[in-house]
Amino acid sequence: MDHTPLVRIEVCIWTSPVSEPEAIFLLLNNCFLFDGKQIFGNAKILNSKTKRPLEIAGIPMADIFVKNETATASGTLKHRFVWALTMWAVVEGKITSTSTVYDSTSGNTGASEAYMCRLIGVPYVAVVAKELEEEKVRQITQFGGQIMKPLSARGEILGKWAIDHISELTKVDVETRNYWAERMAAERGGCFINQFGNANAAEDDHESGNYPLESTNVFHEIASQLKSRGFGLPHYFVHSAGTGGTISSVGKYITRYALPTRVLLADSQHSLYYDYVVYQKYGNLSAGDEGRPGWAPPGIAGIGYGYNTAPIVFRRSTSLLRTVIDEVVRMPDTATVAAMRSLRGVLDIDAGPSTALNFLVALFKAHAHSEGSEATSEKDRFSVVLIMGDPGRFYQSTYLNDTWVDSKMARYGGMEAIRCWQAKIDEAIRSGRNFAENTCDISITSS
Ligand SMILES: Cc1ncc(COP(=O)(O)O)c(C=O)c1O
Repeated sequence: MDHTPLVRIEVCIWTSPVSEPEAIFLLLNNCFLFDGKQIFGNAKILNSKTKRPLEIAGIPMADIFVKNETATASGTLKHRFVWALTMWAVVEGKITSTSTVYDSTSGNTGASEAYMCRLIGVPYVAVVAKELEEEKVRQITQFGGQIMKPLSARGEILGKWAIDHISELTKVDVETRNYWAERMAAERGGCFINQFGNANAAEDDHESGNYPLESTNVFHEIASQLKSRGFGLPHYFVHSAGTGGTISSVGKYITRYALPTRVLLADSQHSLYYDYVVYQKYGNLSAGDEGRPGWAPPGIAGIGYGYNTAPIVFRRSTSLLRTVIDEVVRMPDTATVAAMRSLRGVLDIDAGPSTALNFLVALFKAHAHSEGSEATSEKDRFSVVLIMGDPGRFYQSTYLNDTWVDSKMARYGGMEAIRCWQAKIDEAIRSGRNFAENTCDISITSS
């Protein structure tokens, strides 16, 4: 095996900003928003517009910690995962110095894969949907990645569900993109790195001998950061699942070390993950999963199980390990898009839609704790950690664009529904009123 690429990846261990102070934390509680630079001096960051401390006045007894993964070199939560995935592929000899790497991606993984491939000196091709946001295409190409957009399905027989819903599959579905990535790699002697199928295998490579922390597992880093600042472990870790790799990696870490933190999956409105985790549904290959409900585009970018027409099979079409998830909360997509706008408007945080969903679920739990049967006492503050996966600016042409929302989310009431939710979420942040009361369209489902 050619050892050179491995050496180059080790360079990445040392230079990855994941380990640097700048990459660290935003702390959102009732008065602070920290980033890495200030957190060591324990200073408050001021809202850049109002020049006042940021406040979530409505939930004074809750701390919401936001792990800001957008500060990584390739700009999203996928940087850490793709580091491990690339390390795994090199160590196992799947990538050699002559390989071209192929993968199917909805953008963020592709940008990190392009970054890592450039580090180790091999070409990278991202197979993407033709509708992929231009901002994300630029993220991939800026690190030297090439783009391939399959225009149609592969012409093979799709499952019955896919045929019945073919008109809804406006994006080339994940299974088809995977097919093309795998096929091109096979025909050209390259490596289909398969983020969906291999995330679980890559997990072992989070352990990293001479790294400043013992592990690059994101929850290990979170726990160390909280401890060093005098905080205990959080009551909840909230994250949404695309491949399921991140939340499963955290869930396994928490299970392995018997930590008290509960793992909460934040799911989107039409995603099948809720039923997969709670009821173990949609994984039956022989039945073809014909009974599954229709997918409603656009969904929430990067997360949920919807565009993939294949059954949900662990280590094949998903890396979501259902046994390490404690709870699932599913939110309406319009509420998530509204939360993205509330984060920008009220808290001056530029976050993408999956982060907004995580935030909304954290807010929902914080209200449940302050109001209902889950109430905590004064001395037992409620705390949640969530991940900021990517920045809102990637979505200027989509979720932040009113015309796009009116056209793509028309079936839910478009901007009218978004404005209704946004008013409720703004109010929840400011006064603590429960945004989930008298919802704007459909109800919230929680396990
Ligand atoms: C912005 C964003 N958030 C969340 C996720 C989900 O993470 P995972 O694929 O590890 O489940 C992704 C996946 O690409 C993402 O791009």
